[in-house]
Amino acid sequence: MKEGRRFLHFFDSEEYEQVVPESDEHKKVPAPLFQQPFPEGSPLIDLIPPKKFTIGKTPFIDLVNQRKSRRKYTSDPLTLEELSFLLWSTQGVKEVLKSGRGVRRTVPSAGAKSPLETYLVINRVDGLKSGLYRYISFSHQLLFLKEIDEVEEKMGKLAFDQKFVGAAPAVFCWTAVPYRTEWRYTILSHKFIAIDLGIACQNLYMACEAINLGTVAIGYYEQHKLDELLDLNTDEEFVVLLAPVGRYPEEKKLTEFFKNPKKKVTPESLKRLEGKYKRNNLVEFIFKDSNLVIRIGEFEEILDPFNEVEFKAELSARAMRFEFTKDGKPSKLVVLTEEDAEIELEYVE
Ligand SMILES: Cc1cc2nc3c(=O)[nH]c(=O)nc-3n(C[C@H](O)[C@H](O)[C@H](O)COP(=O)(O)O)c2cc1C
Repeated sequence: MKEGRRFLHFFDSEEYEQVVPESDEHKKVPAPLFQQPFPEGSPLIDLIPPKKFTIGKTPFIDLVNQRKSRRKYTSDPLTLEELSFLLWSTQGVKEVLKSGRGVRRTVPSAGAKSPLETYLVINRVDGLKSGLYRYISFSHQLLFLKEIDEVEEKMGKLAFDQKFVGAAPAVFCWTAVPYRTEWRYTILSHKFIAIDLGIACQNLYMACEAINLGTVAIGYYEQHKLDELLDLNTDEEFVVLLAPVGRYPEEKKLTEFFKNPKKKVTPESLKRLEGKYKRNNLVEFIFKDSNLVIRIGEFEEILDPFNEVEFKAELSARAMRFEFTKDGKPSKLVVLTEEDAEIELEYVE
């Protein structure tokens, strides 16, 4: 595993010349294209130009404070302006260098080589039929590539069964075209490309927050199947990250769900909650290493106490509340699900 860490290193100046080979740029090999070609005469869809954006005026500090990964999306479509705003914010081209050696965009890139391409799997965007598209960043347009059957189910599966990815109105699929960076930076390129990608992704997070949309970086995806879906020549271009985008539902405030006053949590108060609760599944609570742990089959999660009888969760649910009979015996468990539904489980033992 430690071998892989080398990729994050740079070199000292003394070793640089020995280790880093002469670049194709230095050997006067012509510069690569900084946008993947497409057949001449392909119909292109105009996006809303940045000067005409009416959205995205949220103060920067609010974006910083609100940003989080959002994995729940409503069935609302995105507007073309929203999609244009996100594409501009992540890969918009401000200047193609006259030397032909790179492109300046709304995001930085090592040597302005901008090794990324943006594909979009579109399911619900006003005015666009569903299918696979590519952002033609040099002219701020979209190229329709093909229709995709059962897009929702397919994208969920391609994201290692993360179904919310398929449920999003649009999924960004970034590819890397490594030679654009390798042309100058040879073996130094791969760290730089990863950094370029992270920056583009962070701009997507911020751009989404600015227009009340949600996104999440998706590093878990089926590499070969997705490369195939995008019809990529994988010697030169392959998928590097996904990001579903959509409008997020209002979340119920946890303080509305919690009913009890704050009371000090003690090992005794946690131990009192041990037991089994049932609806469809059997859910077990155990006191372990000074924590209350929820167990569902093989799965376990440590709960974060809000007070003696109410807990925040992250994976098994959003939160849960224990209820008792008048004589202080556990009676039921109320669970606030990821979808903000309240489910009751009866105490069984
Ligand atoms: C490179 C990268 C890959 C990620 N892959 C996934 C993923 O496959 N599935 C997922 O649900 N979240 C994924 N995430 C999101 C992280 O889980 C998330 O950023 C982290 O839990 C912190 O939460 P926050 O973004 O809400 O602050 C990924 C994030 C990054 C930066």
